[in-house]
Amino acid sequence: MKVYSALLREVGAIVAGPLEQNQKLQAICELLRDRVAHYDWVGFYLIEPSATDLVLGPYAGEPTEHVRIPVGRGICGQAAETKQTFVVQDVSQESNYLSCSPKVRSEIVVPILRDGKVVGELDIDSHALEAFSEEDTAFLEGICKAVGSLL
Ligand code: SME
Repeated sequence: MKVYSALLREVGAIVAGPLEQNQKLQAICELLRDRVAHYDWVGFYLIEPSATDLVLGPYAGEPTEHVRIPVGRGICGQAAETKQTFVVQDVSQESNYLSCSPKVRSEIVVPILRDGKVVGELDIDSHALEAFSEEDTAFLEGICKAVGSLL
């Protein structure tokens, strides 16, 4: 999609720009949530130095109780464990899932790698069922590649 190439360029400009790290991550969350209709909650989780937990970083959307997630738990924890993008097209069918809001129907989590290690993740929730296509996966993996240099 055309909008995805434009957004990828805008994210590149934010990453290369003058803001502080957390402000850059916040700006990316807001950009994605504002400009992509099926992205209802967009946030970064950052891995702790101990590598046992993910801690919520900047996000755009409603507050969540899941501010700390052990690796292996929920969709976020599983993506950190496997180092692979995890798409859940219907969260009601996923047993290892941590619900943030009953409105959420599908979710994608993309790990952010640096030197082969997971340093964080981009997590996006949608209120639509089966919201995420292969195009979303490729787009968000491109974003996480750009963000990897920040973390
Ligand atoms: N649903 C996630 C928890 C984080 S919230 O979506 C913000 C999970 O199962 O890991």
